[in-house]
Amino acid sequence: MAEVALTSISLEGLPKLATGKVRELYEVDEKTLLFVATDRISAYDVIMGNGIPFKGLLLTLLSAHWFKLLPTLIPNLRTHFITLTLPSAAPESQKALLQNRSMQVQKLKIFPIEVIVRGYITGSAWKEYQRTSTVHSIPMPAGLQNGQPFPQGAIYTPSTKAEAGQNDENISPAQASEIVGEKYAEKIEKLAISLYEAARDYAKERGIIIADTKFEFGLDEETDEVVLVDEVLTPDSSRFWPADKYEVGKEQESFDKQYLRDWLVKEGLKGKEGVSMPEEVVKETTAKYREAFETLTGKKWEDAVREGY
Ligand SMILES: Nc1ncnc2c1ncn2[C@@H]1O[C@H](COP(=O)(O)OP(=O)(O)OP(=O)(O)O)[C@@H](O)[C@H]1O
Ligand SMILES: [Mg+2]
Repeated sequence: MAEVALTSISLEGLPKLATGKVRELYEVDEKTLLFVATDRISAYDVIMGNGIPFKGLLLTLLSAHWFKLLPTLIPNLRTHFITLTLPSAAPESQKALLQNRSMQVQKLKIFPIEVIVRGYITGSAWKEYQRTSTVHSIPMPAGLQNGQPFPQGAIYTPSTKAEAGQNDENISPAQASEIVGEKYAEKIEKLAISLYEAARDYAKERGIIIADTKFEFGLDEETDEVVLVDEVLTPDSSRFWPADKYEVGKEQESFDKQYLRDWLVKEGLKGKEGVSMPEEVVKETTAKYREAFETLTGKKWEDAVREGY
């Protein structure tokens, strides 16, 4: 396989509904989307000039893995996932390009918050805690160390879902409840914590610590059900740490964008537009993403790409 990153895509025949930092959303019919992941990568809310070859396939196949697994662990869980099979309306000439980087999903009304669950204190939560002894304004016990699990168990720490070009802002669960409405806020929080706990236990057995992760939820307006949407438990949406290298009281090694983030900070490029990653950063990030994929799915990357999921 040639390792060329696909950073833009233009489909014939299907109307495009939206472009995200990573994905392109096409309409299959009134109720169905084709959710296409490119190889773009963003860090600190800015998209890099070049991409990570095959990252779109990896995110799609890993999300599909979770979409199949999680309903077996959480009773009555509804997800937006329909199939990895391409719709018949997908252009014949682009089917090879789309296969395994696209899934058909139910088109839903998205709750405009980022549903973050944290099992371990790190990143922006650690920074806030050092300043104010709180995390997303929630008071925390004294004496926590960088990277340790929250003593009270996983916590729900939502943020706003910013418009393009703006940064997400950490908010309290009470503020999130004002945005989505009390009726749904409680369901979202409960579901997010159960999802995180189920995934955390599954990953832990395989040697990966899921320090935190971001979910999105949508509303099925016909049934009034809260549905798990977007990508799920990928290295783009989560912090994955190798369990055998884990040590409380320091920054952890990780399988996600941390290598890229560290490089941007070191080079003084954090938050700058139009940055291209050098080959070394692309290679290292590719390797870390693939290792996370193989560990979590138990499948060799090459086999997964060949066979789909
Ligand atoms: N079932 C769905 N129906 C409608 N929209 C969806 C559904 N699932 C996810 N989405 C939306 O599709 C978009 C996915 O694009 P992408 O992952 O590129 O997101 P982004 O929000 O721009 O970037 P980031 O993930 O970095 O926040 C998001 O805006 C998400 O809310
Ligand atoms: Mg996204």
